[in-house]
Amino acid sequence: MAPGLVEIQTEVTNTTSNLKTTLKASPGNALNYVPGRTIVKKHDETYEYEDLRPRFPDLHWDPLTEVSYHDKGLLGDPEFRNLLSAATSVRDYNPKIGTEVSGIDLVNLTDAQKNDLARLIATRGVVFFRNQKNFGIEEQRALGKYFGELHKHATTAVPRREGLEDVHVVFTGEDSPDLRALFTPSFLWHSDVTYEVQPPSYTSLKVLTGPPVGGGGDTLWSSGYAAYDMLSPFMQKYLESLTALHSADLQAQGSRELGRAVRREPVTTTHPLVRTNPVTGWKSLFFNPGFVTKIVGVPKTESDAVIALLNEVVATSPEIHARFQWGVGDVAFWDNRVTNHSASYGFAPHRRHAVRVCARAERPYLDPESRSQEDDLAERYGIPKANKNGAGIVNYND
Ligand code: SIN
Repeated sequence: MAPGLVEIQTEVTNTTSNLKTTLKASPGNALNYVPGRTIVKKHDETYEYEDLRPRFPDLHWDPLTEVSYHDKGLLGDPEFRNLLSAATSVRDYNPKIGTEVSGIDLVNLTDAQKNDLARLIATRGVVFFRNQKNFGIEEQRALGKYFGELHKHATTAVPRREGLEDVHVVFTGEDSPDLRALFTPSFLWHSDVTYEVQPPSYTSLKVLTGPPVGGGGDTLWSSGYAAYDMLSPFMQKYLESLTALHSADLQAQGSRELGRAVRREPVTTTHPLVRTNPVTGWKSLFFNPGFVTKIVGVPKTESDAVIALLNEVVATSPEIHARFQWGVGDVAFWDNRVTNHSASYGFAPHRRHAVRVCARAERPYLDPESRSQEDDLAERYGIPKANKNGAGIVNYND
């Protein structure tokens, strides 16, 4: 491209004539550029994913019963060779969390590759695959079922098409309420349905329609392994001795207030505050800003202080975060046991539509013999450990 020429390659709908154009500009021939609103795409009248639009059916399900869970990650190759030998590139987002794998079609995985995929997700927290156009909703469900029984959400939207009640629909359109106004930023961080007795492990989210790159709507993940490793050995020991209440009550109340059915009665479950991942054997902070209401067995003031500390660690520590800028057809696969996530908002007037499938996992437990990620990686690869003595006086800010 000639110097000084700016080209926007994304398809643009010219709102007056409805013509699709590629805008080009050179000095003296300025683009009609509006900061942060470079491209506004008019929504089509006929929508490709009409059958996957959200619906809130008036259904009533029995309480969940216990299922057996066999983690496929335990069958994976420790170096992920079956999966990664087929990849064209593998890129870590940062040392603690997040890996993007290219050259893989999620539809054509062998069982050995699926097992490696599970192991990679458990190890890296979240793994990204771009442009999975063949990975339709049935393929997404089939891969989810390979990992375990699919979880059916008690309150959130399911697709319009019947028979897909184990799919969770994320949909934001022109008329959606702005969640940023309703919740604090730390509260929007969560891992999914941790109030369940067997919260999910491997979870996939595919974006069907989203803002153009740069239009907002990224998702961030926060590592529970790395959050645990940020804490002092004293705090780690203290938290290992504690459990927390994870409650579905607020979610159910919100649905009822909107006149929507609560398909299964809300539950509150006590889980350890530090858990062991059965695949990696690493300890992970198991704290969920969105659903933890109380630390058990300590005074309320202390519970509130611990919750405030952990909210800050999970939500505001950049080195334990991975941030993904979605393109249409991209898939993120995370281990919901060892990560929290939060969408980023502020993408109106763009439509954002995604579908999520997740497998129920083991009941969370802490194996006192399990190790921290940092200790394990230091021993195996010589990666330096963090100095946790913050007593020095310094002001790094400039
Ligand atoms: C979710 O919370 O499961 C979806 C995250 C997103 O919309 O980016």
